[in-house]
Amino acid sequence: MKVLAFAATNHKASINKQLVTHAANLLAENKSDAEIEILDMNDYEIPIYSIERHEANGIHPLAQQFFDKIGAADVVLVSFAEHNGSYAAVYKNLFDWASRIDMQVYQNTPTVILSTSPGPGGAQSVLSSAVGSAEFFAMDLRGQLSVPNFFENFDTDKGVLKNEELSEKLKEAVAALAE
Ligand SMILES: Cc1cc2nc3c(=O)[nH]c(=O)nc-3n(C[C@H](O)[C@H](O)[C@H](O)COP(=O)(O)O)c2cc1C
Repeated sequence: MKVLAFAATNHKASINKQLVTHAANLLAENKSDAEIEILDMNDYEIPIYSIERHEANGIHPLAQQFFDKIGAADVVLVSFAEHNGSYAAVYKNLFDWASRIDMQVYQNTPTVILSTSPGPGGAQSVLSSAVGSAEFFAMDLRGQLSVPNFFENFDTDKGVLKNEELSEKLKEAVAALAE
């Protein structure tokens, strides 16, 4: 099982990357054949999408690579950072490029989406956006979880959720991908 995981942010010490890495590790505990690839959006910082750039040079190769990696994956795990209620620019830009290859960016790949923030909102707003638009982008959504108050609920030394209720919810969501 090919597992593609990424945090939709370019923050090098990303809390969403810590969360999605934990989720991928939980999946690997369920699926002994899991091959995990964790993308870093810092490797996907590309010029801002514009129709002129697209027409002049075609699809950016890194957007094509991102699209192809989703297509080649058996399951996808994403954790969204929230910037002003919405997607972090690095993801939105990459997604805009990828959507010009085909609007079905998620290519019907079973996907679990997460979000977290240091505050009580847990980046629920961006998570809701992703849930609301999932069908337009052919995301086969199998589960979702927002983790509020990251630093209270996550053990950053061990890389695991320490809040038991949230931990159970994450295990349930991830289990849906192992079926
Ligand atoms: C430009 C900017 C806007 C932000 N807007 C929000 C917001 O709307 N809601 C929120 O919960 N946190 C917001 N935050 C705080 C982020 O949740 C915090 O930076 C978090 O670490 C982002 O996740 P990451 O570490 O995975 O990138 C914002 C941070 C930045 C830099």
